[in-house]
Amino acid sequence: MKFTLINDIFGDYKNSCKYVANEIEKQLNKKPNSTFILPTGSTPIGVYDELLRRDLDWSKATTYNLDEYLNCSIEEQTYTYFMDNMLFNHINIKRKNINFPTDGDLSYGFNVDLCLLGIGTNGHIAFNEPGSDFNSETRVVDLTESTIKDNSRFFSDINDVPTQAVTMGLKPIMSSKRIIIMGKGVNKKDILLKALHGDVTEKVPASILQKHKNVEVIYCD
Ligand code: PGA
Repeated sequence: MKFTLINDIFGDYKNSCKYVANEIEKQLNKKPNSTFILPTGSTPIGVYDELLRRDLDWSKATTYNLDEYLNCSIEEQTYTYFMDNMLFNHINIKRKNINFPTDGDLSYGFNVDLCLLGIGTNGHIAFNEPGSDFNSETRVVDLTESTIKDNSRFFSDINDVPTQAVTMGLKPIMSSKRIIIMGKGVNKKDILLKALHGDVTEKVPASILQKHKNVEVIYCD
């Protein structure tokens, strides 16, 4: 395992997002047909904002999103809508190169060049909730109560929060050549520390990252 905790260098959220956007830009310049795993949630919004300030050529790139709700009755809350709004509608990526786990492709997201992750307060990455098999593939999952509660901040009524999702498994995530995980806000500090310095256990899904050779961890308040 090699991981670098770079919050001391970048400090605040804006600078952290600039760093991540720079890394994505470098990857695209080095290899125009790069593959990326991308997250949704509040944490990566600043990264997508930063990317839109740059004139990048996404025409040969491929993206795989980490997860998508099942049976979400509010279109604006779907992760497909989020990604269109935050990124895809504003860049020259080809629609056929945008992938969501709801597409049902079993080889979904393997061996990507750069994987960007957030982390849930319960230690989930994507919707791999505590107890997820470290060898898990892309699949349908039930969301835990804590995730439903966390995500209810985006909905006007907690009863509208979907209870199921399709998530990329831990196995394809771990097959990424490089992973950057971001945690924003004090409520992510303890779980990041537990995941990265505590026991490697399926009870804390993000702890699997300790087994990866190339992970960077960005924490900012
Ligand atoms: P957040 O979600 O970025 O909205 O905090 C992260 C996650 O649950 O994976």
